[in-house]
Amino acid sequence: MHKELNPTAPIGVFDSGIGGLTILNELTRQLIHENFIYIADQAYMPYGTKAPELILQRCIQITDRLVQQGCKAIVVACNTATAMAIDTLRSRFSLPIIGVEPAVKPALLHSQSKHVAVLATPVTINSPRFRQLVYRYGSDANTLLVPCPGWVELIESGPSNSEALRAFLSESLQPLLDSHVDSIVLGCTHYPILKNELVEVTQNRVSFFDSAAGVSRQLLRVIEAHRSMSENRTVHLFSTSKQNYLAPFVNRYISSLKVDLIESVHLPLPEVNKLELETSQA
Ligand code: DGL
Repeated sequence: MHKELNPTAPIGVFDSGIGGLTILNELTRQLIHENFIYIADQAYMPYGTKAPELILQRCIQITDRLVQQGCKAIVVACNTATAMAIDTLRSRFSLPIIGVEPAVKPALLHSQSKHVAVLATPVTINSPRFRQLVYRYGSDANTLLVPCPGWVELIESGPSNSEALRAFLSESLQPLLDSHVDSIVLGCTHYPILKNELVEVTQNRVSFFDSAAGVSRQLLRVIEAHRSMSENRTVHLFSTSKQNYLAPFVNRYISSLKVDLIESVHLPLPEVNKLELETSQA
């Protein structure tokens, strides 16, 4: 129980970049009186190919910042961060922390062919937490686990030549169609940003599943007794990158989201982690 939560305090949401905005968009639609603070860790994206210890340290740092900013609950709007850090965050911080997991269960329930694919970052795919999830729900189905290195950077790099993008996606997904996959889980919060292109290249032959609605329901349950009734809620976005490039994405992908502030926030890694980061990227 979290009896001491202040109802008007904001809800903190974070991701390695713009992916979590697909979750934030849903949260702001469902929780219309709540205030939100979003941190996009664009200085250190992508998470999905980094060392687990680094992702963990970063998640602790960002959560700490959101707690200092007075948040009453935290949404880890990143599958990779959830897989690497949710247990540690819950044991270190006393406020409610909601994570995001690939929507494996609904996809398997929906699948007629019982051939389901999960697209996610390499770190998510290789994580014990994700393996357990697949094992729990996927034992009677053929579940293809598809690591997608490079997709997050592609999405973060902004609107690309759509012909080249479609060709890339088509080539990536054709083996899944050839394997009779009829349901695809978008197991990274960045991927729903490509939803239109994905639907187009698969020619409506598959259904796509993401986790935004599930996260929103879970958040509602957790803060039920601590809801804000504010009539003038605020949504503040921060990027850890100096070249704060959140605004063009908000305008392009979620123009329905009314944002009150977009700024950069300086959140450097401790020196020891910088060294590890350089080593892990060498
Ligand atoms: N949106 C993050 C996720 O859901 C992307 C991780 C990354 O930066 O690679 O996994």
